[in-house]
Order: sequence, then structure tokens, then C-alpha cells
Amino acid sequence: MYSTILTSLESGSLIITINRPDKLNALNAAVFNDLDKIADEIYENPAIKSAIITGSGVKAFVAGADISEFNSLNKEQAMAMAKKGQDVFFKIENSKKPIIAAVNGFALGGGCELAMACHFRLCSGNAKFGQPEVNLGLIPGYGGTQRLTQLVGKGKSMEMQMTAQLIDAAEALQLGLVNYVTTPENLLIKTKEILQVIHTKAPVAIGKVIECINIAIVSDSAYTNGKSGFDKEIECFGECFDTKDMREGTAAFLEKRKANFTGE
Ligand code: COA
Repeated sequence: MYSTILTSLESGSLIITINRPDKLNALNAAVFNDLDKIADEIYENPAIKSAIITGSGVKAFVAGADISEFNSLNKEQAMAMAKKGQDVFFKIENSKKPIIAAVNGFALGGGCELAMACHFRLCSGNAKFGQPEVNLGLIPGYGGTQRLTQLVGKGKSMEMQMTAQLIDAAEALQLGLVNYVTTPENLLIKTKEILQVIHTKAPVAIGKVIECINIAIVSDSAYTNGKSGFDKEIECFGECFDTKDMREGTAAFLEKRKANFTGE
């Protein structure tokens, strides 16, 4: 069903491995189509509670958009390509189930943008992050100018995108671009451990946390439906009171027992 990604479902977490190791997992049109389809599957399949995106091999998460597809494009085709990429990444970002990037090497250009579209990131000590598009006479097109700025701040984002310099795992941690740095062997283990904690919480509430936090960082009014994050938080807070899980969670606390959430 998928030609460029591998998938396996482990304890409710779908592990998605971008699988073009000979091209350092560069994102071509086929990878975008596969990511689009797998995002739909995450949305629709109740057996999937969360997802992890990682790269095949020991060297790269994703070394960027596939540069070999660029040279023949005109302006309109390039804009359509950026729009398609942004739409797929928005779909990942807007998933109500957590999608975490396990960055196992180079995350450059579109690779860094893909990692930043995920809800948060862990990486291995050999990871390198960057938006080196100016080396190619380009700028990021899949949300990098926006999300990197939100994550690391304007000054560092400007510097990284103007110099094209890569940062290592330690600096990514210090900047808040990743939440944890671990060994390559431990990367998926640690990511799965965090997701297992999240799986014990109320799924509807998790989805609403994602929704509200996304509004805090995205100013595009088409995306936020014209609502402020504070308004959205009030609405989502209220909606939680319509769920069985909220009744169960509060009752369990008062009865000094563990909550049993069903996602209703
Ligand atoms: N698009 C297409 N192919 C890519 C690619 C990309 N973004 N990144 C790497 N590859 C390919 C290389 O062309 C090479 O293919 P080949 O063996 O058929 O020649 C293969 O992946 C291995 O890459 P290579 O450059 O030989 O590995 P390296 O260890 O010497 O360098 C990088 C690793 C990541 C520093 C280097 O590949 C690189 O700079 N890639 C481009 C990064 C980039 O500019 N990304 C933003 C794109 S918008």
C-alpha cells in the first residue's frame, strides 16, 4: 500500500519509517503521497492511538525535500509543491492523536520541517538540524520559516536560515527544538515510553490540548477559524465536560482510584 514508508503498530503506536535510505530519506512526491495517506489512517483507525515518525538507516531522519525534483519546476509548479507539502504537514500537526518525531540523524530542509510539524521531537546524539535552502538559492517551503521561528525564536531562526548552518543535538536541546537527546539505540524506546504515558490519559482531552496549543503558535486566520487561542481554550474546556472520560477522571480522583478512560 505504501511505496516509500514502512509501518508497524506496536502497543497502539504506529511507527512510520521513511524508507529511502540510499537518498537519505529525501521527501519526493511519492513520500508526500504516502505521508498524506498514512495521516488519514492515523485519523481514522481507532487501533492507532499515536504515531512516531522516524527515518530508515543510521544516518538520516530526512535530508530534505528531494532536490532532484526541483530543477525543472517553474514558479507555479513550485508554489503548488509547497502548498501540497504544507497541507500534508498541517494534517500531521492537526492530528488529535499525538505524532512524535524520533530524529535519528540529519533533519535538514523538509526533514527539519517535517519534524517541526510533529507535536514534539526527540533525537539521537548524532542528529543535525538545519534549513540550508539558501545554499540552493531557495527558502523553506513547507512551513520552516514559520515553525522554526515559533520554536527557537526570531533571532536564531534568522541566523540559521540565513547562514544555512546546521546545529547539533545538544544545541537543538538547548534551543527547545527537541525535548530529549538520547542514544540511537534508545531513541525509539524512549519515544514509545512517553507515548505509553500519554495513552493512559483521556484521548479527547489530549486532542483538545493539541488543538489549543496549535492555535497558540499559528497566526494564520484560515487555520484558526478566526478564533483566539483563549476563546478556543474556553470552548474546548467546556466540551470536555460533555465527555464520559471527564466524569470518570474526576470521579476516579475523588474515589482515590486509577481512571479508566474509554475515549468517549
Ligand atoms: N535530495 C535528493 N537527494 C539527496 C538529498 C536531497 N535533499 N540529500 C541527500 N541526497 C542523496 C545524495 O544525492 C546521494 O545520492 P547518490 O548516492 O545517488 O549520489 C545520497 O543521498 C547520499 O548523500 P551524500 O550527499 O552522498 O551523503 P553525505 O554524507 O556526503 O552528505 C548531507 C550528507 C546531508 C550533508 C548531504 O547529502 C546534503 O547536504 N544533502 C542536502 C541537504 C539539503 O540541502 N536539504 C535541503 C533540501 S531543500
